[in-house]
Amino acid sequence: MEHEVIVAMDFSSEDEVTSFLKKLGGERPYLKIGMELFYKEGPGMVIRLKDAGYRIFLDLKLHDIPNTVYKAMKNIARLGADITNVHAAGGIKMMEWALKGLREGAPGADTKLIAITQLTSTDERTLHEELLIPEPLSVTVEKYALNAKAAGLDGVVCSAHEAPAISKMGLISVTPGIRLAGDDVNDQKRVATPAMARALGSTHIVVGRSITAAADPLAAYLETVRQFS
Ligand code: C5P
Repeated sequence: MEHEVIVAMDFSSEDEVTSFLKKLGGERPYLKIGMELFYKEGPGMVIRLKDAGYRIFLDLKLHDIPNTVYKAMKNIARLGADITNVHAAGGIKMMEWALKGLREGAPGADTKLIAITQLTSTDERTLHEELLIPEPLSVTVEKYALNAKAAGLDGVVCSAHEAPAISKMGLISVTPGIRLAGDDVNDQKRVATPAMARALGSTHIVVGRSITAAADPLAAYLETVRQFS
């Protein structure tokens, strides 16, 4: 299994991304582009970053009827991202059709498709009282991961805590909520260091502020890579 550090580009414009990347010297890290930036700058930004030699996790979290997700994924496929994602809550058929769209949109490309199981903003109370799902949250996370596997997906987004169960399923686990020792935890509730995530079986970690808000982002990036390698 490969092990990759992905830096979250939680910036509001391409200009901010460009000035941040200049601080990294010659390093070309794996970047996560989410909805904020994608809806502001459009697909062209993904293509420009790919052309500049960056690998991209395009974090758009699709969730719609299978046919719509299929057609959307055909278009996303042409951007050449290395990883993209859908919500497992859309069901197995939606995930299968997402994968079909990804493959048909760019024949021969090998963009990985992963699934969000439960967002960390969904807690047990929301699950039971609002969504009327009676099972414990952890049971739904494992079931959604198995559904993703059944649909042929490559893996899931999950916390380091869930990574051992995910790695037993033979799936890749892309883990946010990472902090270097001594960093500000900010709004993350359960955090792990890169070394802990590696030991727990995460194959990819998504790191935002520990690198982007560091006094020396290059040093923080290199330390993260060292710990996770
Ligand atoms: O700055 P920080 O390292 O907390 O950023 C983590 C990144 O991972 C952000 O882009 C955030 O939206 C994303 N994320 C997360 N927790 C999840 C899922 C995604 O922090 N459960």
